[in-house]
Amino acid sequence: MSEELQALCRILNEAVDTILTVCDQRNEDFPSINAPVQPSEFSAQGIRNDASVARAIKLGVAAANQLAITLQSPLQTVIGFGPQATLSANVAAVERNHVAEIIRRYGSEGMRASDIVKYNGTTTSFPERILRHLATHHVFREVSPGVFAHNMLSSLLDSGKDLEVIIKKYFDDTNGLLAFMSVLTHEQMKTYAYIPELMTDIAIVDSQELNDASVQKAYNTKLGYWKYLDLPENAFVNRRFNIAMQGISSMQPPGTILTTYDWKSLPEYGLVVDIGSGLGHVSLDIASVRPDLNFVLEDREVVLQDAKEHWAKYAPAILANTHFIPTDYLSPQPPLPATPDIFVLRHILHNLSDKYASILLKHLRTASGPHTKLVVIDYVVEHPCLTPQNSNCKPQDAIPGATAPTAPSPLLPNFGVAAALPYHMDMIMLSHFNSKERTIENWTSLLSASGWELVRVNRDATNKTDWPLLVAEIA
Ligand SMILES: C[S@@+](CC[C@H](N)C(=O)[O-])C[C@H]1O[C@@H](n2cnc3c(N)ncnc32)[C@H](O)[C@@H]1O
Repeated sequence: MSEELQALCRILNEAVDTILTVCDQRNEDFPSINAPVQPSEFSAQGIRNDASVARAIKLGVAAANQLAITLQSPLQTVIGFGPQATLSANVAAVERNHVAEIIRRYGSEGMRASDIVKYNGTTTSFPERILRHLATHHVFREVSPGVFAHNMLSSLLDSGKDLEVIIKKYFDDTNGLLAFMSVLTHEQMKTYAYIPELMTDIAIVDSQELNDASVQKAYNTKLGYWKYLDLPENAFVNRRFNIAMQGISSMQPPGTILTTYDWKSLPEYGLVVDIGSGLGHVSLDIASVRPDLNFVLEDREVVLQDAKEHWAKYAPAILANTHFIPTDYLSPQPPLPATPDIFVLRHILHNLSDKYASILLKHLRTASGPHTKLVVIDYVVEHPCLTPQNSNCKPQDAIPGATAPTAPSPLLPNFGVAAALPYHMDMIMLSHFNSKERTIENWTSLLSASGWELVRVNRDATNKTDWPLLVAEIA
């Protein structure tokens, strides 16, 4: 074991050395955890968006976590998993009560937690305890007893808006990160608690249906998640979800979607059909480099109403090239203005079990021409062990990009918690839709059973969220 500990330290040291070398070359310091996040974090120039730094961070984070787990008492670690949800609950409490916006007013000197009540009407003792719990997890700084200021992590819980504005307009005109956090920690968090029951409910075990997952237990409804959001009383939750999808784009270095596919290869005035488009965040990115293209946005009617407003505000110049078609994607494709050059599906198929994903993919196949491509942006789940190739599928190595880079031993080959988001999302898909994040074997078999062939997996070395882009063609 001592050799393993030394190997982990070596990986960690090498990662830090690489990062500091890049810092030296760029003549800049690595961002401090004690200061609010730097604007460069959201630009291609941000130090974490440098490809070699991004690779080193992933290795360093994987090594540091594995080291911590190896060193710490296993009792402490396992018992610590139990109340992890209090962290989610406290992040939610800060967001919902606009604590980050209030604390921002007091700058780096910090604010007495007991004064928060003056601004948002919360109780006096709660905020201090919540903030102390968070500060212990490096979210906020307790600068002196009972006084809290922002740090790198807490600043991301700040919408950047004035308190009066955020109370009225909440997540409108934000980068969507806070809305995404809000979705994860509000209505979604309640559903995770029902996963154990899902495992033992004989009536629905291994169901592929959309309306008998944990959501239905948590909210005592027979409606599927999207139909539940369509209820008039969930108008706010629905709008927040749409804005949260912008947060998904904000989590990646700017332009990731533009560098992981050659959009220039599409014919002039070609047609992009964005399935389950949401507000059309992906299409808007594509339009930024190909304004000549025509776009079809397909989603639920209530979402497309918001999408029209969003495009009128952010992309009025290409509104004339854009068709908003309310659609149920489990039905045949509606009449389209031309044969699609490309179908784009970001975070759509992970919402559907194989049964329903296959129905959707077959409808797209029927609406395709011989040259139509399919672009899927979703996770590819890797095993935390080395795997022999699955002999029932096309060998992964024959599909460029399909084999993900693995971490060196003794790290878990999938980088462990340094790349944990797909595994969290897998549980969210289970609890919401009886669906899943897919392994490469799952993807190849789903696509080939639905008339498509996976031809390439494009990955961006700086992609912090590990969302590859899968390209499929007509089989
Ligand atoms: C996870 S979101 C992804 C949104 C968008 N693709 C993006 O990445 O920003 C899934 C989208 O699928 C839409 N959706 C759900 N069920 C649908 C259905 N039956 N027909 C069409 N769209 C649907 C939802 O309204 C939502 O906008």
